[in-house]
Amino acid sequence: MAESEKIRVMIVDDIVDTRDQLEKLLFFEKDIEVIAKAGNGREAVAMSKQYNPDVVLMDINMPEMDGIAATEAILTQNPSVQVIIMSVQGETDYLRRAMLAGAREFLTKPISADDLYKSIRHVHRLAATRPRVVASNGNTDMPGAAATAQGQIIAVFSPKGGVGTSSVAANLAVALRQHTNKKVALVDGNLIFGDQSVILNLVSTKTIIDLANRVDDMDADLLNDVMATHTSQVKVLLAPPDPQRGELVTSDHLRAILELLRREFDFVVVDTPSSFSDPAMAILDMATRIVTLMTLEMTTIRNIKLFLELADLLEYSQEKIMLVLNKADNRLGIRVSNVEENIQRKVVTQLSNAAQDVTVSINQGVPLVIGKPTHQTSRDIIALARELSTVAKPTAPQAAGQAAAPEETRGGLFNRLIKR
Ligand SMILES: Nc1ncnc2c1ncn2[C@@H]1O[C@H](COP(=O)(O)OP(=O)(O)O)[C@@H](O)[C@H]1O
Ligand SMILES: [Mg+2]
Repeated sequence: MAESEKIRVMIVDDIVDTRDQLEKLLFFEKDIEVIAKAGNGREAVAMSKQYNPDVVLMDINMPEMDGIAATEAILTQNPSVQVIIMSVQGETDYLRRAMLAGAREFLTKPISADDLYKSIRHVHRLAATRPRVVASNGNTDMPGAAATAQGQIIAVFSPKGGVGTSSVAANLAVALRQHTNKKVALVDGNLIFGDQSVILNLVSTKTIIDLANRVDDMDADLLNDVMATHTSQVKVLLAPPDPQRGELVTSDHLRAILELLRREFDFVVVDTPSSFSDPAMAILDMATRIVTLMTLEMTTIRNIKLFLELADLLEYSQEKIMLVLNKADNRLGIRVSNVEENIQRKVVTQLSNAAQDVTVSINQGVPLVIGKPTHQTSRDIIALARELSTVAKPTAPQAAGQAAAPEETRGGLFNRLIKR
């Protein structure tokens, strides 16, 4: 193997012995070369500039500048560097922050040789296939959050139940996959009564519970193992098998899971519950866009109006919320233009009323966009998928909104609003 093809690694740790041990472990790997060693974050930033490593093995607790600040600084300087954080067990909060700062992988000390090689090669491969997007402005609230946000999280949501959230989420995920050929995940965020296993006719014993149990050592391999694969190639994270276990999944779990999913997938569609519970808020906060479903029914319209007001209070940007009319039908005695005027918002897309066809598709376990791709409602959903895949992502202020700290979503909506 030519010298230049080796993976160039920099080791950052304040303990000399640790640095040396890691170097020894890597010495006999033909495709890996240790090109620099630094004793603290500040040195690491300077050396990264000088040596331009492919991969940085980064300790967290170090004098002068810790591993999180250093990760952020290094990635601002050179976004193509892949940072692997090395931590001791129990540093969950640090890990979350490191992830937001842009770290790619985590290794728990003591580090086995196998894990070390695997991680280095894995992040190096990722770098080759998935260029990192970097925020041009220094968002100091939550550094690097925008920088790591690669895939889009599309929350399908309605403040009213029964308007078609779950069916639209499933069909949208499939349409995105079929019409972009990108990597698409579907998350059943209805932790208490998840419908996606039925809608997509998926049988699996593995659910979001299996990730929540292991958020601290979650990686792409675990995701792959836990997520079910639909025939459309959409990867589906199913809801817990029963309501009692649904309660075990917290907003922190959801955040960590969505954060990882957005690194691994181009689109992460989330079937979001019609609620403002902490987990639901975590999804809405993290969403790049909220496809907000409305129907032409007074009760739904009233809730939509309340939700839009709430979204303003939560400082969600206008672009983040995409108002979509489902079950669109001009025989319902309410005109869309009147509603738009009343709620001071434009409906972006309309999904035609499919009468009983969506119900039939649910009963068959075959999404309408697959079973009846030329159906008007399928066409409408495909058009929405196209729009979501081509329209630019909301920019800076939105990214700041997405990065609200998890603490803020704990303790309910009321607590959150009075804290502002
Ligand atoms: N575009 C549509 N046209 C007609 N019926 C629809 C449409 N979208 C959804 N439905 C129906 O609405 C009902 C609720 O759908 P579901 O996806 O479970 O909604 P939610 O998740 O919002 O509770 C189902 O009977 C479904 O068949
Ligand atoms: Mg539902």
